[in-house]
Amino acid sequence: MAARKGRALSSLEVTLAVLFVAMTTVSIVLIATRATDTCPGPPPGRAPPFLVGVGRADCTGPPAELPLMGYANPQQTAAGIHTRLFSRAFIVDDGRRRVVFVSVDVGMISQRLRLEVLNALRAKYGDLYRRDNVALSGTHTHSGPGGYFQYTLFMISSKGYLESSIRPLVKGIVKSIDVAHGSLRPGRIYKNRGRLGASGVNRSPHSYRNNPRQERDRYDRDVDQDMLLLKFTDADGDGIGALSWFAVHAVSMKTSNRLVSADNMGYAAYLMENHKDPSALPGQAAFVAAFSSSNLGDVSPNVRGPRCVNSGLACDYLNSSCPEGGTKECQAFGPGEDMFDSTRIIGLNIFRKARELYADATEEVTGSVQSAHQWVDMTDVVVRLDDAREVATCKPALGHSFAAGTTDGGGDLNFTQGAVEGDPFWDGIRDALLGPPSNQTRECHRPKPILFSTGEMKWPLPWHPEIIDVQILTLGSVAVVAVPGEITTMAGRRLREAVRRELGSEGAFSDADVTIAGLSNVYTHYITTYEEYQVQRYEGASTIYGPHTLGAYVQKFAGLARAIAQDRVGSLPPGPEPPFFQKNLFDLLGAAKADRKPDNGTFGEVLRQVLPVYRQGDVASVTFVAGNPRHSGDVRDRSFVAVEMRDDASDAWTLVHTDASWETRFLWLKDRNRRSNATVEWHIPIDAAVGAYRIRHFGHFKSMKGLRPVITPYQGTSDVFRVTAGFYRR
Ligand SMILES: *[C@@H]1O[C@H](CO)[C@@H](O)[C@H](O)[C@H]1NC(C)=O
Ligand SMILES: *[C@@H]1O[C@H](CO)[C@@H](O)[C@H](O)[C@H]1NC(C)=O
Ligand SMILES: *[C@@H]1O[C@H](CO)[C@@H](O)[C@H](O)[C@H]1NC(C)=O
Ligand SMILES: *[C@@H]1O[C@H](CO)[C@@H](O)[C@H](O)[C@H]1NC(C)=O
Ligand SMILES: *[C@@H]1O[C@H](CO)[C@@H](O)[C@H](O)[C@H]1NC(C)=O
Repeated sequence: MAARKGRALSSLEVTLAVLFVAMTTVSIVLIATRATDTCPGPPPGRAPPFLVGVGRADCTGPPAELPLMGYANPQQTAAGIHTRLFSRAFIVDDGRRRVVFVSVDVGMISQRLRLEVLNALRAKYGDLYRRDNVALSGTHTHSGPGGYFQYTLFMISSKGYLESSIRPLVKGIVKSIDVAHGSLRPGRIYKNRGRLGASGVNRSPHSYRNNPRQERDRYDRDVDQDMLLLKFTDADGDGIGALSWFAVHAVSMKTSNRLVSADNMGYAAYLMENHKDPSALPGQAAFVAAFSSSNLGDVSPNVRGPRCVNSGLACDYLNSSCPEGGTKECQAFGPGEDMFDSTRIIGLNIFRKARELYADATEEVTGSVQSAHQWVDMTDVVVRLDDAREVATCKPALGHSFAAGTTDGGGDLNFTQGAVEGDPFWDGIRDALLGPPSNQTRECHRPKPILFSTGEMKWPLPWHPEIIDVQILTLGSVAVVAVPGEITTMAGRRLREAVRRELGSEGAFSDADVTIAGLSNVYTHYITTYEEYQVQRYEGASTIYGPHTLGAYVQKFAGLARAIAQDRVGSLPPGPEPPFFQKNLFDLLGAAKADRKPDNGTFGEVLRQVLPVYRQGDVASVTFVAGNPRHSGDVRDRSFVAVEMRDDASDAWTLVHTDASWETRFLWLKDRNRRSNATVEWHIPIDAAVGAYRIRHFGHFKSMKGLRPVITPYQGTSDVFRVTAGFYRR
């Protein structure tokens, strides 16, 4: 096929070329004529208003021994994978300015994580991606590894600052931005809104009802059921991504869960990406769908509500405790048979609403892109009340009811929600161990009885952040308010309203769609209204900067909104830079020890074999001699699991599921002698193709050559088994 060089074109070729050009021109004219005749389409000649880019990257950390971040339960350490965790990035550029929104499958963004991501972005992109135009938001899954915090309280609850945990998060987030950056192209954004019921209930109705009557009367529910969705397309109108916000806690997976999981919001993303790109393996679709958290502070996915597990009776309404067994016995339940089923149902509800909103999204987002950001010392914000009185925020502190936990996951000790008086027993222990709170802090937080005066605890590092981020991104008339914590339903409504009012003040944003992106940028626990704070349920007790926390946020975010409306974000002072601690970070987890195996066994060997035949709908299971998954290092973009199907004609094996698949569970168990097992379950879908399959497991084990650790990869493969036609069981 080598080209003959230097040959003159024959007259025949020239004629053909001219004919070709002529015919192409004619067809273009014909197509154009037909198009304008029958299909309105986008206004002729109007170029796409934005450059848009979408990207996704695996950010799964070590799925073993690390505490899962969310329930603050030290026994809840990772022991395998249900679904993988991903970071999903969206970049929008209006030709003048650029914004980046990233939704990450983590409990919350920590200040440390954000600062490390910003440092990595600066090293790579200089001034392009900055504190003001990059917003990071966590989906609030409670089943991701912890250990990515620099404040002492969070380090204690997640066994320290763990390099092995924060590294994959930083790399995964940055990679998702890299992919989005690399995919920037002319494109359009459409928005749509709708309501989704039966997927969230208020778990502190007693607090909610303490809000003023006339305010509550403006709403027909005690939770927000709105979903806002943005549809991203390229210039041809082909969909490339969807970004949505919905307010519900990602706690369908309970404190008893030990598997890394993206929970209900992650499952919605999984379904949407699979729906748009059915042939891709999980996490590999070209289409990127993010389901971002919102004002979920008091919203539980456990929609059957709480009851006393021991007696079956209702829990106490005011303090969510049970006559026998107290707080621990009062637990809320999801709609499903078990937590996996509840996760599936809530995730499916969210996905279906998003799919519908996506299909009907026709209102185009146009205009400019803006971002405003400030750091704020949250311990000392003066808040002007409506009656012109001046009050202030406090140094951080947690109340007694913080230790009670919630009906989604209660504390182990005898704390109950709604405590407005301290318990002499626990106060005594606290005073002996940590010292008493100062009178000033006690006064400031009233009526909260202080359990931990974290703002006065500095050893070995401050226990809570003092400097926090406030940030708003706008895309045309859509405003994304990045809130650094879990804001309750009514608090979120007040904040959105204040932002909408300020954005509208100059006429540029007459009808802004304001949404809250929760768990963004730095974690500060909860934000309730002043009235909700008074009854000191868990959310009020966890509003760490005192009763006027929301008032301070409303003021600060309104300031950002005004600056955007007046097009003067450049003149906003950046505020005090947060600390980046180099010393006194601690790691209580340590390196994983060398693995042992059964005397006559080998790593990867099958201990419990699959059955020869399963029906569709059954669970295939195989157990291998395993190493500690922490020895596999950076596990992003890999899999501990493969379910493969044999093509009977060619004898070749095709990968059908990885450990990112909803259908697989990778369960890791270690005994006291450091011997461990990996069990792989395949929950065979009722529509799985009939045929021959095998299950494989990949891992690494550590051994010692004298004093030198050696990491060795291993793999194991089950016997071949058949899947036959089943019967429909549901
Ligand atoms: C919870 O409140 C009820 C009254 O509603 C009270 O009888 C009970 O003692 C409280 N429980 C605790 C542990 O405070
Ligand atoms: C909690 O338990 C301690 C020790 O048993 C006891 O002294 C204290 O009164 C209990 N507190 C409540 C509120 O029941
Ligand atoms: C704090 O308040 C208590 C009780 O009101 C008082 O006895 C004590 O002297 C105060 N401490 C300081 C340091 O002012
Ligand atoms: C190891 O040896 C024991 C007894 O010596 C035997 O029962 C067992 O099946 C062996 N296990 C494997 C995996 O070969
Ligand atoms: C691993 O599996 C074997 C065989 O089923 C079992 O005897 C052993 O107790 C398991 N070990 C762990 C740590 O689960």
